[in-house]
Amino acid sequence: MASFCSRPFPASSHLLATDFSRPLKISKLLYLQRKGQFHGSQRASKVLAFYGLTTPPYNLDALEPYMSQRTLEIHWGKHHRGYLEGLNKQLENNNSLYGYTMDELVKVTYNNGNPLPEFNNAAQVWTHDFFWESMQPGGGKIPGHGVLLQIEKDFGSFTNFREKFIEAALTLFGSGWIWLALKTKEKRLAVIKTSNGVTPIVWGDIPIISLDMWEHAYYLDYKNDKVKYVNMFLNNLVSWNAATARMARAEAFVNLGEPKIPVA
Ligand SMILES: [Fe+2]
Repeated sequence: MASFCSRPFPASSHLLATDFSRPLKISKLLYLQRKGQFHGSQRASKVLAFYGLTTPPYNLDALEPYMSQRTLEIHWGKHHRGYLEGLNKQLENNNSLYGYTMDELVKVTYNNGNPLPEFNNAAQVWTHDFFWESMQPGGGKIPGHGVLLQIEKDFGSFTNFREKFIEAALTLFGSGWIWLALKTKEKRLAVIKTSNGVTPIVWGDIPIISLDMWEHAYYLDYKNDKVKYVNMFLNNLVSWNAATARMARAEAFVNLGEPKIPVA
């Protein structure tokens, strides 16, 4: 990762904050606050990590009537934004967390199951970004061929998968998330429940689809009817296009069967 020094340092130091070791990513805005105050051969500099608010990949009214614009305005515009602003505020006081991608920040602050204070906000930002992209207007229906085959292999049938996903959502204790994720060690898909903002990436697993089971995700549209909410998600919103793309990327890390070697 990029080197960092918050204290005044010699101008010739290799720790100059502009000496990034890799390109910046669009989703992560890093900005430099440089006071430009010279003290003899030294100058004072301060570098802050700052993450930008990612917008859902559709208009806020695009998921109507299944998820209302009002829900998106509050869920994305207030809750998601609140986690992000909370994270940026925390990072102002923790220079050691400068330079990470959001994935890396979540894993580092999870700290092998002993989460650092920044973990909750970082994880909630990550999970919400992932959730918005787990839905699409005109979603639902049946997954594409490759994902469907893998679901049938690992759950027995698509119907079995649906039942497991719904059961997990209805039996989740407290607030949290339901995932269809690729277990990297077992090399199979599984339905996973997590509490609060925890994402399976902290254990090295690869999420394919997520569903937010925090009350702020469904209460305005469905009150306490979680059955209706989960079924609405599976029938009308889940983005199997996103799942297909995520599975394709996952296959670069997990061998799901006998290698098929292309022959020219
Ligand atoms: Fe949420």
